[in-house]
Amino acid sequence: MGCELSKLASSEFNHHDAIDRPPPPADPRSPLTTKQQYCMLASWKGIFRQIEKTGILLFIKLFEENEDLLHLFEKFGELKTAEAQMSSEELAEHATKVMHTLDEGIKGLGDIDTFFAYIRHVGATHHQVPGFKAENFWKIEQPFLQAAQTTLGERYTPNIETIYKKTIKFILENLVKGYEDAKVENGKAES
Ligand code: HEM
Repeated sequence: MGCELSKLASSEFNHHDAIDRPPPPADPRSPLTTKQQYCMLASWKGIFRQIEKTGILLFIKLFEENEDLLHLFEKFGELKTAEAQMSSEELAEHATKVMHTLDEGIKGLGDIDTFFAYIRHVGATHHQVPGFKAENFWKIEQPFLQAAQTTLGERYTPNIETIYKKTIKFILENLVKGYEDAKVENGKAES
């Protein structure tokens, strides 16, 4: 197990919140068990401490693998090299906003109704991006996992990897759902 309770108790978690009080059972709609949710929140603190760096890494990897997505970003779409992207304030700002959205989603996993409402709304807002397609969301899956691995280093254990994979999949599924549902609501459903 990559997420031992002793570690949680000593550094990542507050004793009273995490150890003394038994957690409520996980919502059956959540992809994570209560214990996995615990581990996710504890591990995510390591990402949160380097949220901008991790976000920039994520976007650099996204564009490395999908150069065709760059043009969707008005503020930094002209930056073709990783070097230029790495030192762009506009990219850093956007990356940080996306990471804070993920943060809000991940911290909301304990209340699935709030999670759905929030993440699906964020998905729906992508209708404002000209040329955006629902499948674009999935392009961020591997870059997210790679960026998390880079930031966490040896803390990215096989157990943590499993939990991150489940979490990002669940977030992306719901971003897509929010996007698709809004398309239907707007009467823009394509045949
Ligand atoms: C984890 C998945 C994602 C999350 C949480 C997310 C979140 C967001 C948020 C919060 C904004 C609004 C930013 C603002 O107010 O300035 C935004 C805008 C945007 N997103 Fe996403 N996004 C995700 C994935 C993607 C992907 C994969 C693309 C790839 C094309 C994308 C393209 C865009 C674009 C082009 C904008 C507009 C940026 C601008 O205003 O210049 N998003 N996204």
